[in-house]
Amino acid sequence: MSSDPHTDSAGDPLPGPSPERLGDRVAVPSVDRHILLDAVSVGYGDTVIQRDLSFGIRRGDVFVIMGGSGSGKSTLMRSLVGLLAPQAGRILFDGVSFWDAPQRERIRRMRRNGVMYQSGALWSSMTLEENVALPLEQYTRLTPSRIHDVAVYKLALVGLSAYCDYYPSEISGGMRKRVGVARAMALDPDILFFDEPSAGLDPLSARLLDELILELRESLHTTMVVVTHDLASIFAIADDSVFLDAATHTMLTTGNPRELREHSEIALVRDFLSRGER
Ligand SMILES: Nc1ncnc2c1ncn2[C@@H]1O[C@H](COP(=O)(O)OP(=O)(O)OP(=O)(O)O)[C@@H](O)[C@H]1O
Ligand SMILES: [Mg+2]
Repeated sequence: MSSDPHTDSAGDPLPGPSPERLGDRVAVPSVDRHILLDAVSVGYGDTVIQRDLSFGIRRGDVFVIMGGSGSGKSTLMRSLVGLLAPQAGRILFDGVSFWDAPQRERIRRMRRNGVMYQSGALWSSMTLEENVALPLEQYTRLTPSRIHDVAVYKLALVGLSAYCDYYPSEISGGMRKRVGVARAMALDPDILFFDEPSAGLDPLSARLLDELILELRESLHTTMVVVTHDLASIFAIADDSVFLDAATHTMLTTGNPRELREHSEIALVRDFLSRGER
């Protein structure tokens, strides 16, 4: 790889196509990049958690943000979904810089993001249908009967049409995650963000959730951004990825995780992706 793995798009939001090769990507062509990060730093107050992040996310890809605990995956996701202004750099959606746009534009963009948070965050006093209906009630002018139809449809998409009237405490952890997915999809987002979707699930439920993510991508063609350090998930779902390093506070590489496992020139990345095999 080049000595600087992320000089690719820095300074130019729309560079021309650049060469790619197996393993560490030497350059990120921005053609049809749904999301583009240009020299982004994220953190809290004066503390920089990740700096100099420059990479693109292709439309329709499942893109995984990986890295060890505390490396800043959730922090980066907060900036991508519009909850935390980056300390530096630009985040572009379809070529438009999110954080430079007027607030009204930003809110419009945020409504097109569906987010499933690490904590799950379902309302325990509401049925599954009421949980999924909530964003529709808040952000649309649909009639109650139409909201009912959409909520039931979204629950059907995640295989839970028979459980609309159940409460979160009455279903399994894996099913609760699916409700989180259904709620994230309520407003027909064009990007779905998932923070550690398989956290707290047994391996079988985690694999079923991976399958759901892939099924939804196939049927809805939604761009999916998934934060995870679960290796099985990473290899099952990721088309592309970025690796965040806690020690150096920046990205080490981007690329398809299977290719990185075999061909990355960075030992830390190969080791992370082959944990448990040695
Ligand atoms: N609200 C906050 N204010 C200040 N520092 C924070 C805040 N949230 C997280 N941090 C710090 O930012 C760093 C990165 O945290 P973050 O939650 O983004 O990591 P992560 O990669 O998602 O970790 P995990 O895999 O454990 O979920 C940590 O050192 C954490 O202590
Ligand atoms: Mg996290």
